[in-house]
Amino acid sequence: MFVVGGSASQLLSKELAKCLKAKLAKVEVKRFPDDECYVRIHDDLDGKDVFVVQTTWPDKNIVELFLLQDAVHEFDVSTVTTVVPYFGYARQDKQFEKGEPISARAIARLIQNQTDAFLTVDIHATNIIDWFDEVSAKNVNAYPEIGKFLKGLGVQVVLSPDEGRWENAKRVADIVNCEADFLVKERIDGETVQMAPKKLDVNDKTVAIVDDIIATGGTIAKAAEQLRKHGAARIFAACTHGVFAKDGLNKLRTVCDAIYSTDTIENPTTSLTVAPQIARLALDM
Ligand code: R5P
Repeated sequence: MFVVGGSASQLLSKELAKCLKAKLAKVEVKRFPDDECYVRIHDDLDGKDVFVVQTTWPDKNIVELFLLQDAVHEFDVSTVTTVVPYFGYARQDKQFEKGEPISARAIARLIQNQTDAFLTVDIHATNIIDWFDEVSAKNVNAYPEIGKFLKGLGVQVVLSPDEGRWENAKRVADIVNCEADFLVKERIDGETVQMAPKKLDVNDKTVAIVDDIIATGGTIAKAAEQLRKHGAARIFAACTHGVFAKDGLNKLRTVCDAIYSTDTIENPTTSLTVAPQIARLALDM
């Protein structure tokens, strides 16, 4: 068994190889002077089960994934499983206006063309998995790992920024062994929106806001400001996918005591790996 790691997913590829007891393939990735991508796999993959691991964000990493899949198929491999730790374009999963593409489906179809199985992590809209209709496809949940990580940090309340993802906060809280709640927005007037936990008192408590993705950081920043007003002593933010667009990380650092994310996107807040959860499902397929 071999893991072929793309340049966007180096940390996770190493961890996954360990969990799967697989070899980490020697992969060369370079850019030509015109910025086109060049890849080469230096191990012999004939007869092997191969995992190609690459986050498809930002765009240049999508092309690299397609080249890696193609390079793998140049060997006489046994099976190919494509692992996309963070699936870019997942937020355009329907046509909102006439004339738009269904971007998530477009990417899904291209990935599916070159794989026998597909795995991703906490995909923003689970219906995207259905577009992998010709291969076995699964969505891995990072929340057990986030729960294990937060357990050691003295967290007393786990919060979801909204009711929609409350189930995930609850799963994390069950592992941490603390209470869970979600934040409710209340519009005070045209310019003021307040947020408060639905039922729990956070005064003097260590709280963790848990979300699937931090993109601009706006959602968590607003939640953290409001929790501070409600007396929270320490505020942690934890997410699966740390995108941190538009200076989002610096903005969050002013309102949170610490920020944690997984290795689906490698960034300065990456503190834990989702590899054990990917390996668990991969060995089940
Ligand atoms: C929303 O559905 C998601 O779970 C996140 O809360 C959202 O995508 C975060 O975006 P931002 O960081 O830009 O507020």
